[in-house]
Amino acid sequence: MAVIRSIIRGVGAHLPKRIVTNDDLAKSLDTSDEWIQERSGIRQRHIADDTELTSVLGAAAAKQALVRAGIDPVEIDLVICATATPDRTFPATAVRIQQMLGVTKGAAFDVQAVCSGFVFALTVADTFLKTGQFNRALVIGAETFSRILDWGDRSTCVLFGDGAGAVVLEAQPQHTGRDDRGILSTRIRSDGRYEDLLYVDGGPSSTKTVGHLRMNGREVFRHAVQKISGVIEETLVETGFAADEIDLFIPHQANKRILDGIAKKLNVSPDKIVMTLDKHGNTSAASIPLALNQAFEEHRVKEGSLILMEAMGGGFTWGAVLARW
Ligand code: UT7
Repeated sequence: MAVIRSIIRGVGAHLPKRIVTNDDLAKSLDTSDEWIQERSGIRQRHIADDTELTSVLGAAAAKQALVRAGIDPVEIDLVICATATPDRTFPATAVRIQQMLGVTKGAAFDVQAVCSGFVFALTVADTFLKTGQFNRALVIGAETFSRILDWGDRSTCVLFGDGAGAVVLEAQPQHTGRDDRGILSTRIRSDGRYEDLLYVDGGPSSTKTVGHLRMNGREVFRHAVQKISGVIEETLVETGFAADEIDLFIPHQANKRILDGIAKKLNVSPDKIVMTLDKHGNTSAASIPLALNQAFEEHRVKEGSLILMEAMGGGFTWGAVLARW
């Protein structure tokens, strides 16, 4: 029986020009390169200047993905931008990106699931493509977290960075076999009981300010390995693949120790895990497409590769997407 699947046709990424190293931060903050690397695996991050808005980074990533896909922007009928740092409260950053690219048909909107945003956005796009309502989607993860960091709070500001990544999805008929290409499984989860462990202490409705990111890092860490491993295990059970059949794990990049913990729990070889944390820090919704882009540029993703993307973030939100390139 034939089914419609969302095929990943292209990937792209864009990072702000300015790089800030751990040593740069240690000049004005009571921290050290040694502490940041040992506790998180981060060595540097890119920080956007005033002209590098979330939409600007997202549009640049999207353009690269479209060129690699060989798809003209006028053929795109769905633009979803995963972001927690929109240019404006409204309209959606996706609409601004649509305008920058010259996309005029279909729909464009943002998805807000913080660090899980790209997994949520992929899930939404895949669901629409499978219904036949849209045919070609741009799914973007773009963030300028530097704008919402408290640069005096060493426990959070050293961890995050700015950037964007994007994929182009196209609806194509496939058989329902194990060698099908495209998105094979999506799972998204939220549990609002944990909303106070990672949040921004501002917003138009509550304080009328933008606010700053606040995190109970130790508690978030405690939940991360368990929740992410759980959703990966569910995905494997549902699709019938064994963990060692996955060619590449493309995780959200929050902490190297979290990724090592998941690898150990699932008995996955560390060389199958794409790591960009050292260069980008935690870029929230942008981290998965940035990592996917790196894997693509290093020729680690090839046609037929089975890839598993996963994330967890504020809310809590978490989820996983299994796809064959
Ligand atoms: O992407 C969304 C999801 N986010 C995450 O998954 C983040 C999860 N959490 C983490 O990655 C880790 O908890 C952190 C990297 C945030 C922190 O690592 P930790 O091992 O949990 O450290 P900690 O918070 O327990 O802090 C240990 C010590 C504290 O000092 P005391 O109380 O032991 O004297 C902190 O004050 O390290 C201190 N500290 C720092 N020292 C130097 C905290 N931040 C810094 C810093 N430099 N930047």
